[in-house]
Amino acid sequence: MHLLVAGSSSGIGETVARRLVGAGHRVVLMARRSAELRGLADELDPEQNNRVICVPGDVGHWSDCKKAVDEGVAAFGHLDGLVNAAGAWVEDPLDEADANDIAGFIETDVAGATYITKAILPVLRKSGFGRIVHINGLQGLIRQRPPVLYAAVEAAVRGLCESLRWEAATYGVHVSLLTLGGVANTDPDDTPQNKLRHPERGHLLNRGEVADAILYIMDRPAGVNIDEIVLTPLGQKF
Ligand SMILES: NC(=O)c1ccc[n+]([C@@H]2O[C@H](COP(=O)([O-])OP(=O)(O)OC[C@H]3O[C@@H](n4cnc5c(N)ncnc54)[C@H](OP(=O)(O)O)[C@@H]3O)[C@@H](O)[C@H]2O)c1
Repeated sequence: MHLLVAGSSSGIGETVARRLVGAGHRVVLMARRSAELRGLADELDPEQNNRVICVPGDVGHWSDCKKAVDEGVAAFGHLDGLVNAAGAWVEDPLDEADANDIAGFIETDVAGATYITKAILPVLRKSGFGRIVHINGLQGLIRQRPPVLYAAVEAAVRGLCESLRWEAATYGVHVSLLTLGGVANTDPDDTPQNKLRHPERGHLLNRGEVADAILYIMDRPAGVNIDEIVLTPLGQKF
């Protein structure tokens, strides 16, 4: 498949991009930090065999989202799907949070999720097939505890996916949520789960397990939609 991975300069998105390329998929890398993207592209496609391209950009800017899709189509001929792993983070209580930080969070996580999805939809619609996966947090589920702003943006992404699933199915496009508990962000991607611990949250997932779930979703036959996978480390406290 030919897939756009938004938020692939580091973290979960980077691991997902690595795994997708390793499994034979072609990937458009997108995130704001161009040097990190270029370095990853050079590592994943050292011979420059048109397996990986990078399009630096901000998902919160419509023109950047459009550019990433257009350059992906120009390079690969068509695109088959999107993994959106781009995300910001504000954990301050709402009364203390900086208004500019809140705006940036909403711009990346809500406007960004919407723009990057809107940008790829016409391409998928044209071919009558596609898969869109948004990575979400447990706080997007109703009645979850703080961080409040995280709960708000993740619930918005949940709403986007759950409604779009109906609309996009009419033209062959599958929409999935990959909802995650805590994921380790410093250890190697495949560190055994029982060796990853957060001081308050207990065990953590490794990023390799998250990437495996993406591969599972992408490998389903057309006509099978994975509405949602909820992946949590055993015994996560919240
Ligand atoms: N880690 C967890 O425990 C966890 C749990 C549940 C859900 N999630 C969700 O999973 C997603 C990825 O998390 P992560 O832990 O991998 O975060 P991360 O390590 O901070 O990586 C975030 C990625 O998003 C990119 N990004 C941020 N703002 C962007 C923007 N405006 N435009 C384009 N790219 C942008 C970053 O690259 P640039 O800075 O180069 O743009 C980076 O590649 C987030 O949505 C997060 O909420 C994470």
